Amino acid sequence: MSEVFRLEMENGMGIVTFDVPGDAMNTWTDEAFRSFDRLMGTLEERRGELKGILFISGKADNFFAGANLKMIADLENPEEVRRILDLFHGSFGRLKALGRPSLAAIHGFCLGGGLEFALACDARIAKEGKTTMIGLPECNVGLFPGGGGTQRLPRLIGYPAVELILRGTMLPAAKALELNIIDRLVPADGDLLKEAKAFLGEIIEGKADLKRPAHDFSDLDKVIEQTRQGAVKASRGRLLPAHRLALKSIQDGLKVSLEEGLEMEKANFVEVVMTPEAKGSINTFFLKTLTDKPKGMMSKGFAPKPLKKAAVLGFGTMGRGIVIDIVRNMQIPVVVKDIPAALDPGREFVRKILTGMEEKGRLKAPVDKLMSLIVTTDGWGPEFADVDLVVEAVFEDINVKRQVYEELSAVVPKNCIIASNTSSIPIASMARYVAEPGRFGGLHFFSPVWMMQLVEVVKGEQTSQETVDNLLNFAAAIRKRPIVCRDNAGFVVNALLFPMILETFRYIEEGNPIEKVDRAMTSFGMPVGPIRLTDEVGIDVPYKIFKGMGISQKTLENVVESGRLGLKKSGKGFFLKDGSVDPEVLPLIAKREPKERTVEEIQEGLMEAFVRTGKDLLDRKIVDDVRMIDVGMIWGVGFPADKGGPMKWADLTGMSKRLFGKNFYH
Ligand code: NAI
Repeated sequence: MSEVFRLEMENGMGIVTFDVPGDAMNTWTDEAFRSFDRLMGTLEERRGELKGILFISGKADNFFAGANLKMIADLENPEEVRRILDLFHGSFGRLKALGRPSLAAIHGFCLGGGLEFALACDARIAKEGKTTMIGLPECNVGLFPGGGGTQRLPRLIGYPAVELILRGTMLPAAKALELNIIDRLVPADGDLLKEAKAFLGEIIEGKADLKRPAHDFSDLDKVIEQTRQGAVKASRGRLLPAHRLALKSIQDGLKVSLEEGLEMEKANFVEVVMTPEAKGSINTFFLKTLTDKPKGMMSKGFAPKPLKKAAVLGFGTMGRGIVIDIVRNMQIPVVVKDIPAALDPGREFVRKILTGMEEKGRLKAPVDKLMSLIVTTDGWGPEFADVDLVVEAVFEDINVKRQVYEELSAVVPKNCIIASNTSSIPIASMARYVAEPGRFGGLHFFSPVWMMQLVEVVKGEQTSQETVDNLLNFAAAIRKRPIVCRDNAGFVVNALLFPMILETFRYIEEGNPIEKVDRAMTSFGMPVGPIRLTDEVGIDVPYKIFKGMGISQKTLENVVESGRLGLKKSGKGFFLKDGSVDPEVLPLIAKREPKERTVEEIQEGLMEAFVRTGKDLLDRKIVDDVRMIDVGMIWGVGFPADKGGPMKWADLTGMSKRLFGKNFYH
């Protein structure tokens, strides 16, 4: 077995190169910990000839990307966490006890446990570069820096460390130098090893000017309190365990010696790793990684159809958004078809949004250039003869869609991929109107398209796997986060949302106040409560959907029939402009047998509604992979990321086992 950490002696300098085998990135695996431990043994033996130690990564573009999250997510008992922490901290303690200066030479990601390693060295030098990012991002995955980061970073740079840790900020090398996290900068084309050796030489000789000011922490309690309030605000009124325990570690730890502070940090870290929020957040991290690059979701060996020209049918709310995302991300020509009166307003709208993006520096090409890619038409002219992919977003009416598909099929090439953005019409029922049903599927976007990351790729009965792969490829090209599902009323996201909304109405009909039910879900972490969501979407929307499903929801019926379609839609709904519940709506709430529910019961009941539907989607093979449901709910409706998605949260809280006898994730 080759060692992760390898030592070479050079004129009294211990040059340690590290490289975790089998991975593009160095992360702190069990193997890496043990190898570091053995290295310390060797260094202790050779202490006599040792003047200083230099650590440098053997990877081309990566120092240490932090702890191995898979390993952390799998930790089931506190003793195991404690054992790993002791190993990690113990090695750093031995490094210090050698009594020889140590230097971390950084290129590429130096994050989390990577930066904590570098902070345990006496000095740091970093090479500038696109991937040289330095920071402690653990709070973003439901953890906090538990390898000494909450103790060493504030002691090194003072108060700015508190925000950096809570926000999980990653800094380029120059910014890290400005903040005194690193001591020296090597330009991108410089020789890091050479410069590092020279720097270590200066340190050994006592000639290096290392800035190590003593920081005044007399305002610490105030700073911690301010940061705590900021964290609560950023998490919509909740103080997440990671934030709470990070702040506690800093606040308590800076009032005692470094050694005592490290012990406090360890105890808090054991606690945070065991929280379901840590495991939920890590799950979200993996869901994000899975869907960041949809290539991994496509069939092996799949060769994507080149997309050189697209078409969008319908220049309304959705069509406009889809056009924006195609031109800004792909910069290819887009033919847009609608009635003449819709064309100019559509163009103006697209220009307005693109201009806003340009002003924020978010466009890769000038607005005029992107606008020149849009060809608008009200007919089926020759511009359709060479389109590679069409997205249909016309009225939600099967007769309109039928006509559009029949006419479209006559003008596009045979191998053209066609996708419908329908929200409720089965893909299979439209497939009969296209010439090539195998090349037809669904692409269900969310509004506003250019802001919402999610898209549902729908595989109709006849949709070929190649078409699904091509739609995933298109989704990737317009920088969407796709999930794949089969034809189903409400696909995935709306299918989960509507039973939850139905359950919500039952609670208010039982006499539970609207505010209480909504607040139960916002304090759970949802961006809006279910009643407010209904009001914002338009109260008639769920009403019609339930009606279509043969479900009569009495309260919705009363509210809609009284002309209240929602505050935005018709000026009246459940809420007044000031956000309070409109008292006029209360008599419209149908009555049921009264049943008072606690906030926890409401949260539990609505979660159960999500999870029962999710289970049904899996049983009916609407989705093949439980992760598709969780991705959909996190990026489609803002299900709290720290809970890892409804299905993962059900696993973590024991709901899955209680309801179904087993977990969804293995
Ligand atoms: P919209 O009413 O804003 O736009 C539809 C556009 O289609 C109009 O500009 C209309 O003139 C045009 N159109 C009608 N017949 C046409 C034809 N024969 N040829 C070309 N254009 C024609 O509707 P919206 O909201 O954009 O919805 C479009 C589709 O997207 C529907 O299937 C809807 O269910 C679906 N959808 C809507 C979402 C939303 O939040 N609005 C979300 C996801 C899907």
